[in-house]
Amino acid sequence: MIDHPLLKHKVTLLRDVRTEKKEFQELVDEIAMLMAYEVTADLETEEYEVETPLEFTRGHRVRGRRLTLVPILRAGLGMVDGVMRLLPTMRVGHIGLYRHHDTLEPVDYYFKIPPHPEETRFIVTDPMLATGGSASAAISFLKNSGAGAICLMCIFAAPEGVARLLEDHPDVPVFTAVLDRELNEHGYILPGLGDAGDRLYGTL
Ligand code: PRP
Ligand code: URA
Repeated sequence: MIDHPLLKHKVTLLRDVRTEKKEFQELVDEIAMLMAYEVTADLETEEYEVETPLEFTRGHRVRGRRLTLVPILRAGLGMVDGVMRLLPTMRVGHIGLYRHHDTLEPVDYYFKIPPHPEETRFIVTDPMLATGGSASAAISFLKNSGAGAICLMCIFAAPEGVARLLEDHPDVPVFTAVLDRELNEHGYILPGLGDAGDRLYGTL
């Protein structure tokens, strides 16, 4: 779990039922940026020479082209710009999944990821990890396409979802800003924030 006063402040605003779409989108964007800072803390850098106004020195650059961001549609899209602000050279893939209303099983409808050399690291984004079905399926699709290093960046996680990912993909680290109490009978996170996709895109 990523624990930071700014994240705590912003996720509480996200929970608030009175937070409207525009502010909700801005908060998801800002939270994604703040979380990306932590998620990428172990990124490799390479040295190169840079000229200051006074002399030459050695500096560092992140090998950003080796990173691919993969939002799970729809709600994961809301986290893309925030991460890209820190890592503008990242490539972006997309995985389309929605939860079936009755079974809560993920239904897939889109998969497109950029060509990826073996050393590519993937960051999958989705604000909500509930039963874990969607994230687990997305990670399986990525692995089937040859992806190796994958992590998941969510904002709210339920214990059920974390346990599911640990079971299905023990090699995939999960970063979250909130670990909430439980799921209700409809698979919604409690206390949670409601339906992230609907609140981001106004489809309530
Ligand atoms: C939401 C959310 C996750 C999924 C989490 O998407 O954005 O993708 O549910 O639930 P799970 O962990 O139980 O699979 P949803 O199915 O509502 O699709 P949408 O974003 O297209 O509305
Ligand atoms: N998807 C959401 O958007 N919210 C939840 O609480 C669970 C799944």
